[in-house]
Amino acid sequence: MDYKRYLITAALPYANGPVHIGHLAGCYLPADIYVRYLRAQKRDVKFVCGSDEHGVPITIRAMKEGITPQDVVDKYNGIIKESFADMGISFDIYSRTSNAIHHDTSQAFFTKLFNDGVFEERESEQYYDESKDIFLADRYITGTCPVCGNENAYGDQCERCGSTLSPEQLLNPRSALSSAVPVKRKTKHWYFPLDKYEGWLKEWIVDGKKDEWKPNVYGQCKSWIDSGLQPRAMTRDSTWGVPVPLADAKGKVLYVWFDAPIGYISATKELTNQWSDYWCSEDTKLVHFIGKDNIVFHCIIFPAMLKAHGGFVLPENVPANEFLNIEGEKVSTSRNWAVWVNEYVKDFPDQQDTLRYVLCSNSPETKDNDFTWKDFQDRTNNELVSIFGNFINRTFVLMHKLCNGKVPPVKDELINDADRALAAEIAASKQKVENCLEHYKFRDGLFEVIDLARKGNKYLQDNAPWSLAKTPELQQQNQARIDICLHLCLQLTANLAILANPFLPFTAGKMCKMMKVVDRMLDWENAGKTNLLKVGYSLRAAELLFRKIEDTEVAAQVEKLKINLKQATSLKMENTAPKPAGQPAPAIVAETLEAPAQKPEITIDDFMKMDLRAGTIVKAEKVEKADKLLKLELDMGTEMRTVVSGIALHFKPEDIIGKQVTVVANLAPRKMRGIESRGMILMAQNGDGRLIFVSPLEVADNGSEVR
Ligand code: 2FM
Ligand code: ZN
Repeated sequence: MDYKRYLITAALPYANGPVHIGHLAGCYLPADIYVRYLRAQKRDVKFVCGSDEHGVPITIRAMKEGITPQDVVDKYNGIIKESFADMGISFDIYSRTSNAIHHDTSQAFFTKLFNDGVFEERESEQYYDESKDIFLADRYITGTCPVCGNENAYGDQCERCGSTLSPEQLLNPRSALSSAVPVKRKTKHWYFPLDKYEGWLKEWIVDGKKDEWKPNVYGQCKSWIDSGLQPRAMTRDSTWGVPVPLADAKGKVLYVWFDAPIGYISATKELTNQWSDYWCSEDTKLVHFIGKDNIVFHCIIFPAMLKAHGGFVLPENVPANEFLNIEGEKVSTSRNWAVWVNEYVKDFPDQQDTLRYVLCSNSPETKDNDFTWKDFQDRTNNELVSIFGNFINRTFVLMHKLCNGKVPPVKDELINDADRALAAEIAASKQKVENCLEHYKFRDGLFEVIDLARKGNKYLQDNAPWSLAKTPELQQQNQARIDICLHLCLQLTANLAILANPFLPFTAGKMCKMMKVVDRMLDWENAGKTNLLKVGYSLRAAELLFRKIEDTEVAAQVEKLKINLKQATSLKMENTAPKPAGQPAPAIVAETLEAPAQKPEITIDDFMKMDLRAGTIVKAEKVEKADKLLKLELDMGTEMRTVVSGIALHFKPEDIIGKQVTVVANLAPRKMRGIESRGMILMAQNGDGRLIFVSPLEVADNGSEVR
């Protein structure tokens, strides 16, 4: 279908902490690349985002910092907005869900559904913390995940295995605010009947979006739909949020996942009076860029809400990325294990494109990826500087030296096959990059750009204009060939600026200055052409586009990560200590506020019920489509056992073969991702979050009892 308009959204980040590079890689950078590409094609596009300022992440943060939720969102909205601007994320609007226009829009949305009889009103018993006088929804409550056994799962999600949960599903629930064991209290809420939209969702996604959507997105949706959809409460007992617009709903607000996606609509309203052209016309292509933890909300819940409301377009695609780990470990805002964008910008001034390059070339498009500072250095120095920067620099220096600083002429009769081959590569590259970007393959697209620069380097090397000009006589003799070579290299430079522009906009801007051309040259329709720079046009001197990253910088950043982690860990222990000066406070996205209390006392008989045994891991493999799970085969002496364990982010399968571990052997079997797990292995967790096997100090016989 030919779309008239493009409406591109990027997930509204919670305004409860600064953004880190995982956020950038997850959705903002790919969204920005896509939007810049669309704009270069002169398509009618709006790029909307804003701060998500409601919900538990905000109120927990406020409690932690001892300030009001309003103070929290005011503070972080500013920091986040600035970080995005610094990194060249080119939103048409960056709004806030605390704005009046958003309250009005989300309340009107709710009222329409209410008046249409969509909601089911239900009174039910919900967990309540008597010591804090508060209902415990979402991340106010923690407990053991019924799927993977993670003891720190939240009331809405288990971050270890990714399961979406409700507080009632948690085993051993406790308040995240006080660690108290919660009681049940009656409360009334309005439920959105997702079950009634199951058939429609199945038709729309399972039957309709198979080939278009990324396999990770499609797979998650299918498994949700296959396991049956349940009505979901769209209101909460809280004073922070958009008030429920009903007379009998005092003290109730809209569920943050009800109001936040409507934030895309309110932001568009704030941006343009023509907002309904973008939201209500079938010829709009709506694309949501998000991280994988948001898939269900954007592919199931929000579309069902839009469908129930009627009159809105549905997302044509939701190209969600996986996660970016840091130095081999999952990003943790509470442990301050993250690279904060506002800090990067300070530590590496004018190196925004370097980070954009590294994050895109290592983008977690199909699986979780790892960011390491060493890799940051390698990619920058060996690719960006040595291939891209080097080609442009050599071309400009040679053009000034051998062609008087002007675009040299071309004698057609002297054009050879190598020139023709390079011109063909230039022409072909437009289509190649375009194919990648149209299909959200940003990594591959960037690779094509670098590959073209690589071909330019080879062409320059093969033609070696410097050796054709070793003496003034030689140069005079060879000037026509030197001219052709540098002419083509300059046209290639112009093409590189156009093709790199969506990825590296700061660099493309600098290149335009060097070539003394206006930004219009970057229009996509110019890509592939070899007549962009006119013969005789004089160009500026080469400007340094990128610089090498030094070993000392890598070491300093790795050290900084470790220090941040240490400070955050000791802060967490002390809990009362002030924030370290100059460091961003570790953001609490979801965390218990106090160290988990000791579990209730048990008797020796209780303990003796546990059958603990030594076993050796003889086989380990990743569980398909479950980032955190490993399937282990254990030699238990008299038998082999399969145990599924949530340790995949901590250990590589090949590293743990032969490890002797302690196994809870009489744990009831449980199915995880279709695999029957018979037992559980014991792990200790360090203050820094590392997992350590609880193994016998000396190798014991497999199957021997641990007492
Ligand atoms: O996960 C998050 O950070 C959410 N604040 C994303 C919201 S996206 C949209 F629905 F607003
Ligand atoms: Zn789990």
